[in-house]
Amino acid sequence: MSTDNVWTHKGTFLLAAVGSAVGLGNLWRFPYLVGEHGGGAFIAVYLICILTIGTPILIAEILLGRSSRRSPIMGMRFLTRCHGTSRGWESIGWLSAFSAILVLSFYSVISGWALHYLAEMLTGTLRNSTSTSLQRDFAALLTSPALLTLYHTLFIAGCALIVARGIHRGLENALRLVMPLLLVILLLILFYANSVGDMSAAAQFMLSFNFDQLSLTGWLEALGQSFFTLSLGMGAIMAYGAYMSSESSLTVTALSIALIDTLIAILAGLAIFALVFGAGLPPDAGPGLMFISLPLAFSAMPYGALLGSLFFVLVLGAAASSAVSLIEPVAAWLVERFELARPLATGLVVTLAWLLGLATVFSFNLWKTDSLFHQWFGSSAFHVFEMTSHVTLPLCGLLTALFAGWALTPTESTREMHTHSHWLRLWRLLIRFVAPTGVAFVFLRALPWIEG
Ligand code: PHE
Ligand code: NA
Repeated sequence: MSTDNVWTHKGTFLLAAVGSAVGLGNLWRFPYLVGEHGGGAFIAVYLICILTIGTPILIAEILLGRSSRRSPIMGMRFLTRCHGTSRGWESIGWLSAFSAILVLSFYSVISGWALHYLAEMLTGTLRNSTSTSLQRDFAALLTSPALLTLYHTLFIAGCALIVARGIHRGLENALRLVMPLLLVILLLILFYANSVGDMSAAAQFMLSFNFDQLSLTGWLEALGQSFFTLSLGMGAIMAYGAYMSSESSLTVTALSIALIDTLIAILAGLAIFALVFGAGLPPDAGPGLMFISLPLAFSAMPYGALLGSLFFVLVLGAAASSAVSLIEPVAAWLVERFELARPLATGLVVTLAWLLGLATVFSFNLWKTDSLFHQWFGSSAFHVFEMTSHVTLPLCGLLTALFAGWALTPTESTREMHTHSHWLRLWRLLIRFVAPTGVAFVFLRALPWIEG
């Protein structure tokens, strides 16, 4: 049906998938999780999860996208019909579309914060700031619904413009421009952090194995993070996989994505901790690490405003190349199913996510306490959305693994994997038994008594 819709080059899928994978999860979440859960011990567990659970499911998602050559919702319908399996598997498509919109709604709000800090860096507002002034600044941002809405709108509208122009003129062109730029900025910041910060303390911290600090929560966070960081369970990879060349190797491509994503998370962590330690700040500031500790570190260092600006450009570019991959699967479905024009389809998806995002905006101010939402759900909208994604992402990943492992015939997988070898056997072992067991374990994270 949409077979002429293929990426222009063989390598474009890798570029797009890395663009999707590398995002706030690498630059913001990974470093603060490492800081909170015992440094190298957390990284070790995380690597095990990436290899035994994340990468096999990544292969499965690409495989389902490429063999159906359709958007996730239409693709899952096509595959279940082809195989005469239960229509229940179609839920994978619907669930992933639901999660994509949900995650996009709050991902856009948080990415918007980086716009605020970029503006502050560029105008020199953050020069000579202190820990208290930065804490006040962050609090002032969160308590202003107008500012948050402004940044949320700018960010999501920018992403919509890219997707609306189509996969070749929009996505490919943007990614080919942005991704090399991001790599250059990351290397520059790493180099800078190495010369003005404390790199040996950062390396020591990230490689120290404090297994006693790694609680059950730490294990579950590592599992959840391995999922989120590879963009799984939201149809993003499946949608991009539908445009992938039939000749590329699934295994090599998936391993490259996982490797690059992990490498960038570790490099970003090293740079951030070198700056934070160099300024004499603690590594366990949690979510405030990027928005309070880091600006403080930049403000104390030579050329801090310039490098700080570059850093937030990096954050924004990485976040935008992830956000577009959340719009694409749902927009592509509207185009296929209802034959809508792409700009209209994109507009609809983004409007829905934008509206939902307002609930996240208000969770930090207007609806903070005693709102109707609070009374109904017992917590803020942002928290409810996040916790919902902690359930729907792994659920979707679990179903994907089960479908690819048990509903697809071995011949089908062999054809897509271009191989009969040990790799295929290893992958089938992981996708049928190991990954489902591991993912089932992630659900523990959603239980209230595990938290904290
Ligand atoms: N992988 C992205 C990150 O690490 C987040 C993301 C999730 C992007 C799902 C797209 C889809 O930040
Ligand atoms: Na990531």
